[in-house]
Formats: sequence, structure tokens, C-alpha cells
Amino acid sequence: MRRLVVLITGAGGEIGHGLITRLAAEGSRHILTLDLKPLDPALSRLVEREFIGSILDRNVLERILAEFEIDLIFHLAALLSTRGEFTPVTAHQVNVEGTLNLLEFAQNERQSHGRPVTFLYPSSIAAYGLPDPATKALAGRVKEDEYNTPTTMYGCNKLYAEHLGRYYARHYKQLSSETQAGRVDFRCLRFPGLISAVTVPSGGTSDYAPEMIHAAAGGNAYACFVREDTRIPFMAMPDGVEALLTLAAAPAASLTRQVYNVGAFAPSAGEIRSLVLKSFPKAQVTFQPDVKRQRIVDTWPADVDDAAARRDWGFVPRYGLESAFSEYLIPTIRERYRKG
Ligand code: SER
Repeated sequence: MRRLVVLITGAGGEIGHGLITRLAAEGSRHILTLDLKPLDPALSRLVEREFIGSILDRNVLERILAEFEIDLIFHLAALLSTRGEFTPVTAHQVNVEGTLNLLEFAQNERQSHGRPVTFLYPSSIAAYGLPDPATKALAGRVKEDEYNTPTTMYGCNKLYAEHLGRYYARHYKQLSSETQAGRVDFRCLRFPGLISAVTVPSGGTSDYAPEMIHAAAGGNAYACFVREDTRIPFMAMPDGVEALLTLAAAPAASLTRQVYNVGAFAPSAGEIRSLVLKSFPKAQVTFQPDVKRQRIVDTWPADVDDAAARRDWGFVPRYGLESAFSEYLIPTIRERYRKG
């Protein structure tokens, strides 16, 4: 008997962690996960079925298709911006071919059970590429369709995958006799840097913010790899998870676009350091910019214009900069490091 479930790829990653916890608490769906590695036992307990495998392995996807009726997919698996610069071809395979496999999988699910499949895709501020710091300073809060000239493999992959999703949603096999577009309801968020209190990121270039906070809480010195005046948007992880769920639940008729910016606060690295020091006065945070990683962050916008998300589906982040620290990050992180 096939059962209705939500599929989460890359489920063991930072967003997956928060999303599984949140969906399990809601309890309205069976959760199915796909990740290269086994989930933490604490997460594993919350899911109906855990597939260990690659999104590049079509056999795994066929097995899932044969067994489950899926009408909601959170496709989170990706290789991030720093790691992608060391292995660009692998990044392309995972981020583009993997996404293509999942979109095709979604199309097949729709074909098999006849109901629309909602496909949630996290894109990134890495999809932007501002040409130089002066332009970045002038641009301020960028809109979705501005500066779509990414400089990282990851950013190129995310931007193209957004287009792939739009293609599946609106134009898929447009020359075939039967209309096949619209079977995959593709919805995409362009996330800022996400900061979680319960997990530490790896392989990204916005990692300096969460790394700084976690290092301070753990009593470790931290050398920040970007300049003190570096500014990009960030968001607390619970708001990222909530945004995915809110967009997933939004009535299709209210959505005017496939891709939405979402933002919450946009501090400089120096401002993050000051907030860290307020809570951990003995923290040792220095700035030792890595010229090459700095260059990547300098192409990302200082902030994003998320008016479309606010208007179309009521996006409102719960946490601003101060409250993200005082109500979420600091208390949760203290607890985490106290437990060891
Ligand atoms: N956090 C990601 C990265 O740094 C950006 O989406 O690669």
C-alpha cells in the first residue's frame, strides 16, 4: 500500500535538521529522507523511512517512486559555495544533475498518483554576482532579477536550477501533444546565510558568522576569514525552516513568481563580533581575511529586497538581529555547549 509522504533530500544537513524536527512536531505527514549518510539517531527516530544514497543514483529514486506517493518535496541536497570551488565538476553534478533527477522524479510522481507535486527548492544569495564593492554599496537591497551574474560554481548551479524548476513548472515538453507543464509546482526561496544554534555549517562561504558564534560558545579562539566591514544578509534557522513551510502551504494563486528573496538582518562581520562579545566577553575573535573567500562574499549583496515574499505569501521573519541572538542563538547554543 503506497502512503502519502514528504520527501527531504540532503536531510542530514543544517536545514534538514530543523525541518525534520519541525515537521515531526506537526505530525501531519510521514517523513521520508534521502541522504548520503545516516541521519543522527535523534533525527532518525522522527522519520518514517530513511534512504541512504545519492540523488545522482536514479535506482534509489525509482525505488522510492515505486513505494511511496509523494506530493511534497524539499530538495535540500547541495554542495556549497566554498567546497564547490575545489570540485566544480562534482558541484555541478550534485547541484544541477541531482536537481534535474529530482524534478524528473517529481514529474513521475505526479504521473503516477495524479495529484500535483509541490517542489520546494532553497536557492541562495550566491545566485547574485555584484561586480565590485562600489556597486555592492550602491545597490543596497537587491531584487530577484538584478545582478544575476554569479561568480561561483554553486551560484551558477543554483541560478540554473531555478530556471530548470521554472521550466518544469511552466514549459515542460511544450511541443508534446498533451500538456505536461504545471505538474511540478516549483517554489524557490533565495536564502541569505543561515545561522543555526544546533548545527555548524561546512563548505559554505557565509560560514564565518555561525563559526564565530559557535567558537565563542565553545571557548575557542576564532579568526574570521572576511574583513570586519563585510556585509551580507543572514537569517536564524527557525525562520528559514518556517519560510520553507509557509511557501509550501501558500495557495498557488497568490504566487506571482517562482523565486523569492527572503531576508531578516544584514549585519557586518564586525557587528556580529560585537554581539558575540556581549554574550561571551572573553571570546577571542580576530579578523584574518582570506583574500579569495573575501572576493566571493564581496560579490554577494549587502541585503535583499524581499517585498514580493512579504506581499504574496506573508513572509515575516520572527527574529531580527538582536532577538536572533538574545532569544534564539545564545540561549540555545549555551545549552548545547553546556551539555558538551
Ligand atoms: N550558505 C551558502 C554558502 O555559503 C550560501 O547559500 O555557500
